[in-house]
Amino acid sequence: SDRPRPLVAGNWKMNGTRASQAVVEAVRDGLDPALAGRIDVLVCPPATLVGAFAQALAGSAVRVGGQDVHAAASGAHTGCVSAEMLADLGATHTIVGHSERRADHHETDADVRAKALAAHRAGLIAILCVGETRAEREAGRTLDVVRGQLAGSLPDGATAAATVIAYEPVWAIGTGLTPTAADVAEVHGLIRRELAARLGEEGARIRILYGGSVKPQNAAELMAVPNVDGALVGGASLKAEDFLGIAAAY
Ligand code: G3P
Repeated sequence: SDRPRPLVAGNWKMNGTRASQAVVEAVRDGLDPALAGRIDVLVCPPATLVGAFAQALAGSAVRVGGQDVHAAASGAHTGCVSAEMLADLGATHTIVGHSERRADHHETDADVRAKALAAHRAGLIAILCVGETRAEREAGRTLDVVRGQLAGSLPDGATAAATVIAYEPVWAIGTGLTPTAADVAEVHGLIRRELAARLGEEGARIRILYGGSVKPQNAAELMAVPNVDGALVGGASLKAEDFLGIAAAY
């Protein structure tokens, strides 16, 4: 089919220590080779674990990514990590613009765009997050908000090989709440149209992930929605069995 190759990605957020390597080893060892032939699987641990996980997963089908990058390659930015540093550790991807970064660290669309460009500069695939808050949804502004975030944070000339969009409604993150399949279809359809309008054929091939309370029990229904090309998984990615159960929805 013409459907983009699915990506199932785990965002560990600020969770995990060296002992957690057992989780990614269980994902590596439990991933069905036939499934790994059909989908991409990615784990994004805290930056402290990227190097060790990349070593543990070397030669396997499971990739490792960061959760954020600074826009600059190096310099006087105490406490920050650059895309080049993640790439040096063996990361292949990084999340940018997660709603927790936008909210807790006041990241603007322009900041997120600069981070996506930094990821591309370092050869990383940028997973660019968008999504409305509960108040925005209740005000009927979901499509406007997502359109605006995409317009402001997606770099010109973004390619399908280097760019993934993740739609994460903020009210669905860590709450056990998910939008209906129809609501997911509406937003992913809007994102697809915006990508195609800006990037043409390339935009039709960019993967659009859904994120927010994805679990093994709801993964098949969410992943069957048109223009849902995979999942960005938070809480459930911390357990190998749950993460593999979500991947098995493909
Ligand atoms: O980036 C993924 C995340 O925000 C979703 O979290 O715990 O609802 O799956 P969770």
